[in-house]
Amino acid sequence: MFIAGNWKMNGTVAEATALARALVDGLPANAPTTAVFPPAVHLAAVGEVLKGSPIFMGGQDCSGAEKGAHTGDISAAMLADIGARGVIIGHSERRTDHGETDAEIQQKVEAGLGAGLGVVLCVGETLAERESGAAQSVVREQLEGSLPKVFPGGSVVIAYEPVWAIGTGKVATVEDIASMHGMIRAWLGENQPELAQTFILYGGSVKPSNAAEIFALDEVGGALVGGASLKSDDFLGIIAAAMKP
Ligand code: PGA
Repeated sequence: MFIAGNWKMNGTVAEATALARALVDGLPANAPTTAVFPPAVHLAAVGEVLKGSPIFMGGQDCSGAEKGAHTGDISAAMLADIGARGVIIGHSERRTDHGETDAEIQQKVEAGLGAGLGVVLCVGETLAERESGAAQSVVREQLEGSLPKVFPGGSVVIAYEPVWAIGTGKVATVEDIASMHGMIRAWLGENQPELAQTFILYGGSVKPSNAAEIFALDEVGGALVGGASLKSDDFLGIIAAAMKP
């Protein structure tokens, strides 16, 4: 299992370090792999708190370019340099707010892997796409368009996040999650054999009260958690749900 907290654009340095401290102190022995993704400007301070703990840290995005004249952007190498070990790429909020295309996301995945970061690649359909029956084909297209054509090695975890379930309190049904995760698993086996066994996370309004039934599904290897990752008790509750046999 892999439990990831996406802190998005929230909080102050003091709040971020306090949250990290509470997670370090509260993390049970034998917890699943746990990662947090603080805002970029909080990475250095959070990294100090996490030092020596099993919780690892990543960035929420990186540039597809290596370096140079890209005002405001952050390179994968800069994330690695500040102590990040992973990066979220292709989150639906980046696709929507910044118009990121699959081709750009593919460059970012390659940049992240090139810098030695573990990548959490997000895919997921909008409500209109689900209602028109296109959910699986949309996600398949995102996988095809955003994973490297020739896999360069390294670690990629897939996060299936239906856009309409993010931050809305609406969770996909267990049947929908199971069938999408099954499709992703099959697609990876056929098209990206290096990633055939990788974790496939679910994301979208995961909380302590619904985590256990989601984690019980066959191909669900953990969660990408937004809102509930900002409260240490909730995030630790989700981690506890992932430890249930
Ligand atoms: P949410 O966000 O848990 O607040 O729905 C999930 C995500 O965007 O990764």
